[in-house]
Amino acid sequence: MATAILIVSCQQQQTGQDSEIENKVEDLLSKMTLSEKIGQMNQLSSSGNADDFKEMLKKGMVGSFLNEVNPVTINKMQKVVMEESRLKIPLLFSRDVIHGYKTIFPIPLGQAASWNPDIIEKGARVAAQEASEAGIRWTFAPMIDITRDPRWGRIAESLGEDPVLTSVLGAAMVKGFQGKSLNDTNSLAACVKHFCGYGATEGGRDYNTTIIPEQTLREVYLPSFKASIDAGAATLMVSFNEINGVPSSGNDFLLRQVLRKEWNFDGMVVSDWGSVEEMINHGFCADRKEAAMKAINAGVEMEMVTSTYVEHVENLIKEGKIKESTIDEAVRNILRLKFRLGLFDKPYVAVNSKSSLYSDEHLASAKEAAIQSLVLLKNENNTLPIKSTVKSVAIIGPLADAPYDQMGTWTLDGEQEHTITPLVAIKEEFGKQVKVNYAKGLEYSRDLSTKGFTAAISAARQSDVILMFAGEESILSGEARCRADITFPGKQRELIAELKKTGKPLVLVIMAGRPLAITEESKIADAIVYAWHPGTMGGPAIADVLFGKVPPSGKLPVTFPQMTGQIPVYYSQKNSGRPAKEPLMLLNDIPVSAKQFTLGCSSYYLDAGYKPLYPFGYGLSYTTFVYSDLKLSKNQMKKEDQMEISCKITNTGNVEATEIVQLYIRDLVGSLTRPVKELKDFKRVAIKPGETVKITFTLNTNQLKFWNAKMEQVVEPGQFKVWIAPNSSEGLEGSFEVTE
Ligand code: GLC
Repeated sequence: MATAILIVSCQQQQTGQDSEIENKVEDLLSKMTLSEKIGQMNQLSSSGNADDFKEMLKKGMVGSFLNEVNPVTINKMQKVVMEESRLKIPLLFSRDVIHGYKTIFPIPLGQAASWNPDIIEKGARVAAQEASEAGIRWTFAPMIDITRDPRWGRIAESLGEDPVLTSVLGAAMVKGFQGKSLNDTNSLAACVKHFCGYGATEGGRDYNTTIIPEQTLREVYLPSFKASIDAGAATLMVSFNEINGVPSSGNDFLLRQVLRKEWNFDGMVVSDWGSVEEMINHGFCADRKEAAMKAINAGVEMEMVTSTYVEHVENLIKEGKIKESTIDEAVRNILRLKFRLGLFDKPYVAVNSKSSLYSDEHLASAKEAAIQSLVLLKNENNTLPIKSTVKSVAIIGPLADAPYDQMGTWTLDGEQEHTITPLVAIKEEFGKQVKVNYAKGLEYSRDLSTKGFTAAISAARQSDVILMFAGEESILSGEARCRADITFPGKQRELIAELKKTGKPLVLVIMAGRPLAITEESKIADAIVYAWHPGTMGGPAIADVLFGKVPPSGKLPVTFPQMTGQIPVYYSQKNSGRPAKEPLMLLNDIPVSAKQFTLGCSSYYLDAGYKPLYPFGYGLSYTTFVYSDLKLSKNQMKKEDQMEISCKITNTGNVEATEIVQLYIRDLVGSLTRPVKELKDFKRVAIKPGETVKITFTLNTNQLKFWNAKMEQVVEPGQFKVWIAPNSSEGLEGSFEVTE
């Protein structure tokens, strides 16, 4: 059962065991001067030289560093604190370990395509084991922002568009990073980010404004944070954006009302880089002093890299603009975290201990994660897997042998020397089966030169099948990397069109940090595998899937638009008063001088219709699955009730494969309008050729709750539809009623 809602709150269990820690926190806090308290709230980015900070460390003016990854330097800084400062409060070292430290896993959006919490938890565990060897004990991950806008570069770091999928997978990442106990030296404190609503950034342009009604905030953007906190997330990071005029760094509704009062979060809140000071840019604060005041009163407890707290807190207290008790609460949360991490007992990192970096186990996990992240979007004429009759392949494209870009965004410590690319993997693994004709065609994804086309076309002509590796360099996705046109950059589209002219079967393997608008290319390619940025072991994973060693199983965690102008397009949209009515009169069908109302009036684009190119939850396999025999254990539910919903799924092909089965509902009528579909659960199931399995979901009326206009979570009586489906656009449909 993969439902975040049922995750028992690890945090509540942990608090019970923390009474001893609470006593230690209070005892230490009682000894601290105001200056030492403010020091704990101060996080700096390391210069790499411990001597630069020696005097501050002796005075206890720093609580944490980010971006120091040399264990010798970490121990040197820690030694100053533990031997020369008054209270010997250990430093906490942090880093953006987003999808791997040295062994790089697929970008989170790619990992989400696995719909597999176990493989995601394993990936975070590997990252924690590797990063903690350097002395890192706090990572700024998982990023669990919901986003429906592929123009936004940070969609790459997200787990996609859906609150339920992101809740389950985000909680798994938290567990992976934090391990069995935060006290273990190979555990990292997780930091769920960015709180909140960052993915709703207007126009998909990073750091931009968001306008989010509270009902939408609670229904779409908050659930994944609640699930991760229920899973025990130790810290939380505020977001850069404002919501309805209030920047998150100064948003006491988010940080006091929701996070503390409603959710009982007892972890620590950190700013995002300069987000405290950026409230001046927002026009929410007049100066650094007011920024410090608003951030502290709202509940931002550690200030990352800017120093408004160090500069202004003492005076703000003297002026009565903040209370020392507010500072005490912040410092309690910081000290509690450090005690939970065991830093007071074990402040130093063991240098030269046996390293787990790039271990066979870690590489195998990264390969498995990459395999499960691959999504087969098209496979005509049974082009894939590559048959034994194929004697030669043309490997073409700027991403075929791009070890750095293959790692993707946010791989600060990744080493491209360890990346195995598709070119290398295919040569190594299948070089005896096929002759490889390699011609890059383009030097990099943005390359505007066509001088490589001739060689590429020649390679294609000499080969039985073309494998074109297209997409985006990693620098085109991630933070502050937004694109107003999400088609292939450079001359890739032209190269793909030229390759098609050779008449050879054309397989597109796409590496990108976002859904790309590939409508034209999807028409001419015979097969398409979406690989995201698949990480260190992406090459062997892609090779094994292309050559049929393992079938693809991934499904899209995000909708693929037909074109950029269709954004936002996502499966759980509202129906509107005039849903699109088939048949649609599309641009090129319209008669010249058509009269104004002859085309009908419903909600669609003349040049794109209303459907996406590929829907949320979509993905093909090397076999086919037939769904049948939907059964509901009840056709009426009371308000506090549950029922079983089942169906049969038959593997009608000739290879064993895994199907990701999805459960959707629709609340047909509500006191507020409801989406046309909502994912409520999902399961991965392996099915042998010819085998029929029964899949059963339990649907609890709690899962039908929504936030009404009075901000109450309610189940309203009425008619519902339910689907067990292979994706969000089809499936076996049933209906039931919720009675009073
Ligand atoms: C960045 C990002 C945040 C990251 C932090 C520290 O600007 O917004 O996700 O964790 O700064 O690098």
